[in-house]
Amino acid sequence: MDTHKEYFTHAYRTGTDDWTHLPWKRAEGLLLEKLPDKAMILDIGTGRGLFAFHLAKSGFRTIGIDYVKEIIDKNNQEVQNRGMQKELRFMEGDALDIPFTDEGFDAVTDIGLLQHLPEGDFAEYINEVARVLKPKGYFLNIALSKDTVSFWSWFPRKAAESTFEKQGLKHHFFTKEKITELFNKKFEIVEQFTERFDPQASLPSPELGNVVYVVTLMQKK
Ligand SMILES: C[S@@+](CC[C@H](N)C(=O)[O-])C[C@H]1O[C@@H](n2cnc3c(N)ncnc32)[C@H](O)[C@@H]1O
Repeated sequence: MDTHKEYFTHAYRTGTDDWTHLPWKRAEGLLLEKLPDKAMILDIGTGRGLFAFHLAKSGFRTIGIDYVKEIIDKNNQEVQNRGMQKELRFMEGDALDIPFTDEGFDAVTDIGLLQHLPEGDFAEYINEVARVLKPKGYFLNIALSKDTVSFWSWFPRKAAESTFEKQGLKHHFFTKEKITELFNKKFEIVEQFTERFDPQASLPSPELGNVVYVVTLMQKK
C-alpha cells in the first residue's frame, strides 16, 4: 500500500482524521445554485462523506468515492441506517482512474484531495475529472492556500517551497494562480476566493483555525 493510502486508512481507523468537517457554506451555495434539480454529483476523496451526505440531503443524486475501502464500507452502512439508498452511495475508487464512464456527472467536488496528490499525478487527475463531467459540467475544488501563515511547524506564506510533509503525507499549498494554471486547459474559472474555517465553528484542532483554503468553482470548457 502506498504511504498516503496507509496514512488515510490509519487516520480513519483511529479517528485522527482532523480534516473532517463541513464549513463550506459559501462554496456549496455557489455550486448548488448552478445545478438542475436531481443533478448527479461525484464527490472524489469523500472520506467520511460528510459533504456527500449533505448534498444528498439537499436533493442531489450523489456518489462518493475514496480509495480507503474501510471508510467506504462504513459510509454505505450509514446510508442504509438512514434509508438514503435511492439518492446516495459510496464506492471504492482511485481518483486517477475514476470508475465511471465519460460525461456522466453534472458536477464533481474535491474537498482536500488534490492537495495530497503527488505532483506528477496532477495532469492525470485533471483529465479524469474532465472526462467524467458532462459538457459544461462544474468542478468545485477546495485546497490548502499558500496564504496560510502557519501550519503545524511550517510557515507556508513565507516559505520558498509549496509542499510540506507531515508524518509521511504531502501537503501542497496553492496560490489561486497555480490552481488556474493547472486547470486552464480543460476548465474556465467561474469563481475563486480564499477562505478560512468559520471562527465560530468548533474544530477538532485549534491549529486548523489558522489554515486558509483556495476555493475554486470552475466549468468544463
Ligand atoms: C484530506 S481528506 C478529505 C476527505 C473529505 N473530502 C473531507 O473533506 O472530509 C483526503 C481524502 O482523499 C482520499 N484520497 C487521497 N488520494 C486518493 C486517490 N488517489 N484516490 C481516491 N481517494 C484518495 C483520502 O483517502 C482521503 O479520504
